[in-house]
Amino acid sequence: MQRVHTGWLGRDVISIRDFSREQIEELLRHAHQIRPDPELLRGRVMASLFFEPSTRTQLSFATAMQRLGGHVIGFSGVEGSSLAKGESLQDTAKVVEKYADIIVIRHPLEGSARLVADTVSLPVINAGDGANQHPTQTLTDLFTIQRFHGRLDDLKIGLVGDLKYGRTVHSLALAFTRFRKIELRLISPENLRMPPAILRELDGIVPYVETSELDLRDLDVVYVTRIQKERFPDIEEYEKVKGAYVIDLKACEQLRRDAILLHPLPRVDEITPDVDALPQAKYFEQTRNGVPVRMALLRLLLGA
Ligand code: CP
Repeated sequence: MQRVHTGWLGRDVISIRDFSREQIEELLRHAHQIRPDPELLRGRVMASLFFEPSTRTQLSFATAMQRLGGHVIGFSGVEGSSLAKGESLQDTAKVVEKYADIIVIRHPLEGSARLVADTVSLPVINAGDGANQHPTQTLTDLFTIQRFHGRLDDLKIGLVGDLKYGRTVHSLALAFTRFRKIELRLISPENLRMPPAILRELDGIVPYVETSELDLRDLDVVYVTRIQKERFPDIEEYEKVKGAYVIDLKACEQLRRDAILLHPLPRVDEITPDVDALPQAKYFEQTRNGVPVRMALLRLLLGA
C-alpha cells in the first residue's frame, strides 16, 4: 500500500471544490489498490447520520468501514434520534463527536455538512446536502470512468436529466474543472438546467453546450440522473417534466460501442430495465465501486 502524502489526513470532505487534481488522483490510486484488511481501522468508529433516505451511500460506507475492521454507529431519519425531541443539529454533532472518530452525514439542507464540520473537530464527510453536493459519489463516478476509459482527460461527457436539483451532477461537473480537454453536453428540460453558479465555475475551463435534445452520439460517457421529485417546491412543476427522458434500447442505438452509461441510482423510469444487459450499461458496477472508493477515503482521512 502506498504512503499517504497529499493532505487527506484528518480533513473534511464537504465539496469536490476543496480537492486538487493531485488529491483526487491519489485517492483513486488508493481505491484501485485497496483490499479488505480487518486490522487497518480496528477500533475506529464511524458515525453514520442519515437524515434523508439512502441505500447505496449509507450501505457502501458501512461496508467500507467494516471491511477495514472498523465499527459503525448512527441512525437513519430523525425519528430514531433526539432531533425528534427538538435537539439542534449542532448539539447532535457535539454529542456524536464524543463517540466517534469520523462523521458521515446526509441532510436535506444545503450547507448542513459544512455546519457540522465547523462545529466538531473530527473529519466530516458530506454524503449529500440537499441539491448542493455529493462529493463521494463524484469520486466513485471518476473511479468508474477511469476504470473503463483509462483516463480522466480528453473525454466527451453527457449529463442527462435533472441538472437543477441533482447534486451528483453539480459535484461531477465541478470535478471536471480539474481535468483537461473535457467537453460537457448538458441535456435537460429548459426548467431543469444546470444552475448558473455552477456554469460560471465551468466558464473558460470546461466547454459546455446546453440542449433539450436527447443527443447521445459521439459521447464517451452518458451520465443519467433521476428527476428529483422531492426537491420540487411545486408538484405540478414535477408532473410537467417527469419522464422527460427515457433511455431505452432505441435511444441506446445512438451510443458508441465504447461509451459507458452511468447513473448514480436510484432510477425510477429514466433507464428501462432491458438496457441493463447492454455492454455500455455500467451503473451497477458504478455502485459496486462505491465500496473501494469509500474504503480508500476512510483510510486516508483516518491515517491508517
Ligand atoms: N447514489 C446515491 O447517493 O444513492 P443513495 O441515495 O441510495 O445513497
